[in-house]
Amino acid sequence: MPPWLENAVFYQIYPQSFSDANGDGVGDLAGIIARLPYLRDLGVTGLWLNPCFLSPFRDAGYDVADFYQVAPRYGTNADLRALFAEARGLGLRVMLDLVAGHTSIEHPWFQASCQPERNRYTDWYVWTDSVWTWSGLNQPVVAGYAARDANYFPNFFWFQPALNYGYARPDPARPWQQPVDAPGPRAVRAELRAIMRHWLDLGASGFRVDMAGSLVKNDPGGHATAALWREFRSWLDEAYPDAALVSEWSDPAVAIPQGFHMDFLLPFNKPGYTSLFRRALPAAAPYFDRSGGGSIRPFLDEFLPLHAATRDHGFIAIPTGNHDAGPRLGNGRDVRDLAVAFAFLLTMPGVPFIYYGDEIGLRSIDGLPSKEGGYGRTAVRTPMQWDASPNAGFSAAPAERLYLPVDPAPDRPTVAAQTADSASILHVVRRLIALRRAHPALGAGGDFAPVCAEAGRPIFVYRRAGSGEVILVALNTAGAPGEARLPSGTMTTIPRVLAGEAAAFRQDAAGWFVRLPPVAYAVVATGG
Ligand code: NOJ
Repeated sequence: MPPWLENAVFYQIYPQSFSDANGDGVGDLAGIIARLPYLRDLGVTGLWLNPCFLSPFRDAGYDVADFYQVAPRYGTNADLRALFAEARGLGLRVMLDLVAGHTSIEHPWFQASCQPERNRYTDWYVWTDSVWTWSGLNQPVVAGYAARDANYFPNFFWFQPALNYGYARPDPARPWQQPVDAPGPRAVRAELRAIMRHWLDLGASGFRVDMAGSLVKNDPGGHATAALWREFRSWLDEAYPDAALVSEWSDPAVAIPQGFHMDFLLPFNKPGYTSLFRRALPAAAPYFDRSGGGSIRPFLDEFLPLHAATRDHGFIAIPTGNHDAGPRLGNGRDVRDLAVAFAFLLTMPGVPFIYYGDEIGLRSIDGLPSKEGGYGRTAVRTPMQWDASPNAGFSAAPAERLYLPVDPAPDRPTVAAQTADSASILHVVRRLIALRRAHPALGAGGDFAPVCAEAGRPIFVYRRAGSGEVILVALNTAGAPGEARLPSGTMTTIPRVLAGEAAAFRQDAAGWFVRLPPVAYAVVATGG
């Protein structure tokens, strides 16, 4: 386990929308480099960049046409190296996005694979044996695309053909389903390793792996895919012990014990995660909601077993949001609501990930036309808002040439305005990150146990412990004051306030209790 993960806080950058240095309306690597001091001051220790490689950008770069080359709109490979080096100089590590499961149809490997004549790439993708083989398969195929008399399997959108990692249970009646140790899948695995080596050698610190659970086909339980990642992990442990892997799998109990250092909780198959910040059903309020109608239990009932199953092997990553998940945390929440949400995110075990702009409460913008395969996701991909200059300081291009429009709201949050206001959410987030990094008990691997977590109650109290330190965190998400009595023995010494409300933890004849004003939090140390 790379030791730096223990107190890591990541920041996700969607490169299109972060900072445009050359004025063409699209964010770029030079723009990110120029903003590194901001990120250092924020206190994050790692960056994750969405794919920045050559691509026709039909899916925002998740359709890679050359894994070894930076897309010209972002700069050059030399710029990416410079980003690695400059970031490291400021104590920041950079993770790239590894789109392991598929390529663009424009990738030369796929173009070669489309040829009727056998060649080196014929078996690099998953193809049926004939263009007429498509009925009766419970996966979609793309029929009639290529001169090759066969259909290919898309991994996501139709223009993202699945690379061939083989089938866990190939059907003997369909010999085109190759076993995982067939030459095609072996060559693809070797190439993936070469891609990782290439970027790690140039200074990358690891990868976020796109659709990490999707690689091997017909793989119930993901076991063959997990075995493949175990193989990569053993290689990394040997060759690059400082490199980290975080999976887009959203099944930590499978992903982490089998090779990933971290796995994300994500909305698409984790209702407990959704129940924190987003409305899962029209009727159900999220836990972080002023109405007080939500509950922490749906999250905890999911999280506690996952934490128990994974804590000896790696870390669960709880993101504030990402480029696929809307609405943004900032929608419908003011600085107090956001402060309570960040107090939670930055004191939980595992590794927090902040989606760019969430630290200032950037809001998503509904109703935008789909951009680069974004569809509804386009709402959460609008430009970062830096200051009061045109285009909120994102770009010097004319507004109509921007990758996406900047939030037109007159009260849109900006970094500059919030830097000047010590009560802003940006300052709260900075202080909470600093707190996390200063206290080992709050680190990724510190103990975690709920103390007061009753169904349907907006008060949630939990205990973090490690390195001889015990920290209690109390949250009240509701717009009304809240109170909860602590089980005896929870408070071992008079609490020392670390963040939030000063007098939240109190004592009476019956023992210790916590009382919080509306929408508030408190973090205290209580001995070891
Ligand atoms: C997951 C990525 O997060 C998403 O943006 C992309 O569209 C799909 N994988 C396909 O690569």
